[in-house]
Amino acid sequence: MKQEMMQIVKQKMIAKDIFELTLTGNLTKEMTTPGQFLHIKVPQQDLLMRRPLSLASVDQQKKECVVIYRTEGTGTKRLSGLTSGGELDVLGPLGNGFKICDVKKEEHILLVGGGIGVPPLYELSKQLKSKGAIIHHILGFHDKSALFYIDKFKKLGTISITTDNGSYGIKGHIGAALPEYLESVTPDAIYACGPNALLKVINQQFLEHPRAYLSLEERMACGIGACYACVCHVADDPSGQKSKKVCDEGPIFKTGEVIV
Ligand SMILES: Cc1cc2nc3c(=O)[nH]c(=O)nc-3n(C[C@H](O)[C@H](O)[C@H](O)COP(=O)(O)OP(=O)(O)OC[C@H]3O[C@@H](n4cnc5c(N)ncnc54)[C@H](O)[C@@H]3O)c2cc1C
Ligand code: FES
Repeated sequence: MKQEMMQIVKQKMIAKDIFELTLTGNLTKEMTTPGQFLHIKVPQQDLLMRRPLSLASVDQQKKECVVIYRTEGTGTKRLSGLTSGGELDVLGPLGNGFKICDVKKEEHILLVGGGIGVPPLYELSKQLKSKGAIIHHILGFHDKSALFYIDKFKKLGTISITTDNGSYGIKGHIGAALPEYLESVTPDAIYACGPNALLKVINQQFLEHPRAYLSLEERMACGIGACYACVCHVADDPSGQKSKKVCDEGPIFKTGEVIV
């Protein structure tokens, strides 16, 4: 984990309220594990806390990385106004990332993402593809206007899309697309990122699966394990006292490991 003033290469809106921000700097050398995140200082004096954003893509040769984010509050709205040529104070990469070292050629891998949980799955999918895995993506969005990166994911594997209102793909949430996929394939590994409702479905469906992983999102302050702002509870703990820090012990956990 390092800190650097990274240069903004470009920023563009790629869907409704969704922005793709490309940064360059030596820090990219450290960005090898999909699922890790950057902790970004918003260039505004009264915003002291950094904002966690997942690595969506890394190009080691160009020394570039991409984060994709949705404008939510003051910080991300301020970020969306930045343009090329500027600099951004970046800490990272943080978190443990997705475990992919045991993925073998021709294994069937299921990636499940919802909304702003989709970005980290892109770098993950690229790395899985380079290992020769067979990838299927199930991606859920609020509606058609929120869709992004569909063509890019199609180049890496098959894809099923759900929208809450049925304006594109299957109507409903991720659970609506799972049964059809599971009828024909038993995935060797599953990776999921998205809102809690999605994570609950995947946690339940693959509770006993030895290689099923969830990426959790918690409000963060330090991002490096020092402040305990981001704790979640351990599942197998009758006392209810044990917790894990999402920033440095996560954000990726095995299904059944923590309470979603
Ligand atoms: C590991 C991780 C990866 C993430 N990756 C992405 C991503 O790739 N794209 C994306 O759009 N969003 C991502 N998020 C959520 C993103 O961090 C928040 O949407 C963002 O921090 C909101 O900031 P804001 O200033 O717009 O909102 P505000 O509500 O003004 O933020 C106030 C404070 O709350 C914190 N905060 C608010 N919402 C969240 C949240 N959901 N998670 C953590 N902290 C929060 C902020 O960091 C800030 O300190 C991720 C969150 C985590 C924990
Ligand atoms: S955000 Fe400080 S310990 Fe996780």
